[in-house]
Amino acid sequence: MMEKRIQRIAVLTSGGDSPGMNAAVRAVVRTACANGVEVLGINRGYSGLINNDFRKLEARSVDGLLQCGGTVLYTARCAEMLTKEGQQRAADNCKYLGIDGLICIGGDGTFRGALALARLGVPCIGIPATIDNDIACTEYTIGFDTATNTAVQCVDMLRDTMRSHERISVVEVMGRHAGHLALNVGCAVGAAAILVPEHEAHFQEDVIEKIREGRINRRHHHIIIVAEGYSMSTQEVADRVEAETGMDTRVTILGHIQRGGSPTARDRIIATRMGDCAVTALLQGKEKCIVAMQKGIVLDLDIEQALEMKKSLDEALYQVEQTMSS
Ligand code: F6P
Repeated sequence: MMEKRIQRIAVLTSGGDSPGMNAAVRAVVRTACANGVEVLGINRGYSGLINNDFRKLEARSVDGLLQCGGTVLYTARCAEMLTKEGQQRAADNCKYLGIDGLICIGGDGTFRGALALARLGVPCIGIPATIDNDIACTEYTIGFDTATNTAVQCVDMLRDTMRSHERISVVEVMGRHAGHLALNVGCAVGAAAILVPEHEAHFQEDVIEKIREGRINRRHHHIIIVAEGYSMSTQEVADRVEAETGMDTRVTILGHIQRGGSPTARDRIIATRMGDCAVTALLQGKEKCIVAMQKGIVLDLDIEQALEMKKSLDEALYQVEQTMSS
């Protein structure tokens, strides 16, 4: 049987935005156009698909996007897409609009939506983009490098004032239920302790004693990085540290600032490779994949298998950090 030629595809961004999403959209559009395929940009993720909110994208309409943070397609977390009715409406609209394939840029929730649509007959390819880097099938998700660098810059600035006042800074970084961002930021700023959901800290030994030892060695300011998904709140961590060390302690929650900004070169390059790979997968007749990076190579994997994988923390880096902060 002859494979159906792909004539029109659509692209959307969904879930929390991440720097580099625009670069991925640009790559999708450019690769599609280079292959004579029309592209529709769906606004506001799955809610745009359900409500027929889209625009035509051409090679020139993505000029200047590579370096822009956020997503020009807007994004949303769409509750309707979790329902059978919402999924069916989205699939019906894809058919109505003559969409031969859909590229969904986002994280785990985005891929679950893509899988639902693929099961309803809409070929879907996912591109991993989240600052959390918590997608199991891929060693890298678009936006992680930029978010790490942004958080590191912020903590470097905090360190100046902490050093001047001889204080402790307890800094909360994003990451949802995962500690990848916290671990990498903690490593890059030389944190005294890094608290992540994947490891329950022995508070006395892993945090308080390290600070006490540091003070004996004439270290009078400290940075503690806490992942937002850690078992204690950042304020609780700070209160306990202050009570047990007697040192003036301040809390900073970096928040959404971590999601903004122009993507780093690494994010732009990986987004470009992943966007190109996603369109290529559709052109090859693939119908339900996630683009992933494994050992530095960008490839596509079956979405169902990919979603079953479990991601663990980089234990080697975590152990190195135990040594660095000892
Ligand atoms: O998944 C990306 C992320 O930034 C998480 O790190 C964070 O927990 C969440 O999104 C915040 O979501 P919202 O922008 O909806 O508050």
